[in-house]
Amino acid sequence: MFIRSPIISVLGHVDHGKTTLLDKIRNTFVVQKESGGITQMIGVSYVKREEIERLAQDVKQMFAAEIKVPGLLFIDTPGHEAFTSLRERGGSIADLAILVIDINEGFKPQTVESIKILKQAKTPFVVAANKVDVIAGFNCKNSASFLKCLQHSQDSFQHKLDEKLYALMGQLSEHGFSSERFDRVKDFRKEVAIVPISAKLGVGVSELLLLITALSQKFMEKRLHLHPNEPAKGTVMEVSFEKGLGHAIDAIIYDGVLRQGDKCIFLTHDGPRVFTVKGVFEKEKNKLKPMKYVVAAAGVKLALREEGEILSGSPFEVIKGNEKVLVQKFQTELSSIIFKKEGEGVIVKADSIGSLEAILRTLEHIGLSVKSADIGKVNKKDVVEAVAVKNKNPLLGVIFSFNLKIDEDVKRLAQEKDVPIIASDVIYRLVDFYEEWKQAFKRKVEQQLEQQLPPVARVKVLKQYVFRFSKPVIFGVRVELGKIKPGLKLMDSEGQYLGEIRQIQKNKESVSVAQQGDEVALSCTGFDAKVLQRHDYLYPYLSDEDIDTWLNKGKTLLSAEQIQLLQHFKRKRLLKI
Ligand code: GTP
Ligand code: MG
Repeated sequence: MFIRSPIISVLGHVDHGKTTLLDKIRNTFVVQKESGGITQMIGVSYVKREEIERLAQDVKQMFAAEIKVPGLLFIDTPGHEAFTSLRERGGSIADLAILVIDINEGFKPQTVESIKILKQAKTPFVVAANKVDVIAGFNCKNSASFLKCLQHSQDSFQHKLDEKLYALMGQLSEHGFSSERFDRVKDFRKEVAIVPISAKLGVGVSELLLLITALSQKFMEKRLHLHPNEPAKGTVMEVSFEKGLGHAIDAIIYDGVLRQGDKCIFLTHDGPRVFTVKGVFEKEKNKLKPMKYVVAAAGVKLALREEGEILSGSPFEVIKGNEKVLVQKFQTELSSIIFKKEGEGVIVKADSIGSLEAILRTLEHIGLSVKSADIGKVNKKDVVEAVAVKNKNPLLGVIFSFNLKIDEDVKRLAQEKDVPIIASDVIYRLVDFYEEWKQAFKRKVEQQLEQQLPPVARVKVLKQYVFRFSKPVIFGVRVELGKIKPGLKLMDSEGQYLGEIRQIQKNKESVSVAQQGDEVALSCTGFDAKVLQRHDYLYPYLSDEDIDTWLNKGKTLLSAEQIQLLQHFKRKRLLKI
């Protein structure tokens, strides 16, 4: 049975040190030997078994296991690209992940996003708590093991480090993960291991690599079984035009063996299509090196015979006499991600299949219906479509744009038509921005409503305070619910029109509004003190239409008591008909 190299994704917030960590891995363990003719992979970093074995010398007492994997394949994934390079139907091609967190900063937006991706795809991960060299009292030589480093550092360093680690553990537990420093973990299936490292100096990197090796060998042997006779499967990382190669892509092969001349199915804008692999390349001394075949897991460049727009993030698979079945499978997958529907819903545009799928899943989660989902920049047609939706349902007349530039003329048109384009390269920010916009929009609508409609209010007539008998009658009231203003018409508890408020006085001063709880004097026309004696309560007059508008559009502005009152009047009016 063959075991393939585990695929390790490196995720984390901007500037927390993902690239530095991978550079360190490459420089320390790979590039040193490059002159010796080691093959480099494309778009990924690869550490061979011999290198891991060399490392093991250093920290052998910790990880005594025999190293069985042929190597470790790392994918550097700046924030949003995690979706593209890792996506596999219903999961991730990554077997394991390193979540890089700057120990001095803790969790940041993309840390949270990374955790969500890992959770969704059920990818096990370890945390690299990076930049420990910044902590006061740190004292280590380059490339030392973390545990050795700890022995050489001052007590103050150990205390500070522990403090920061505990803070990190707290944040991890908020996301449902219990965690522990790697050398204190009792059960690696239950606790997330945290390896303190300095990517810059290389401290702790040996332990990190050995831990990953040990974990993948111990817990994912089955997943790592290579199927040399199965058709190769992969994911497109980047589509390019390579001088001399023509139509080319950078890809990760995550299972099987890919051979020159293989025919593969890819996703294009026009559906699944067959492409022939003209050439397979790895890299040697920064030059492309043609290969007859490559074995998973590998990062490669593929030159393709046919032209055609392959979608970024597209999965692909070698055809082995199963073309029809495969086309059907790929078509089903495509239509769940790129689609256009009748009816109301938002418009989503994203940079790759992976990110689009992740966004759709997130929007579904918050119950937002999507009218169309596609890959590529927002265009004028999208805006026109959003306007049509907006006219029927303003809350859905929006466009989401993920990790894409927005053309000026499109931006201008959207502004003109008052269609918001919600853009970000962090998914949950898209959702946050949408919620913010929605709240602001609702507030605006409600404010307009409040200005148009009479308030839902009730005042108690204070019968002992009648200051003038008629024309106008002046008497005291207490505002028990809502608020009242001069100019409002009044009705009784049966919904019968009585008259109009001319003036409101509070402490003998004329006021423009009386709020709930206020005791004020009203001067009114249309009725006199005799009428007043028959009523304990008065209300601002509401037409049937006013009542319906309040109930249909303004409910969120009202208290339960106000809603009850509206329903009471609605019943009274209905009874009269
Ligand atoms: P993006 O690709 O933009 O998401 O960032 P990244 O996570 O790849 O971060 P990168 O490796 O580019 O590091 C960002 C900055 O942090 C650089 O200035 C690094 O030199 C610095 N840095 C990374 N690791 C360490 C470390 O261990 N210690 C210290 N002191 N600085 C570090
Ligand atoms: Mg980077």
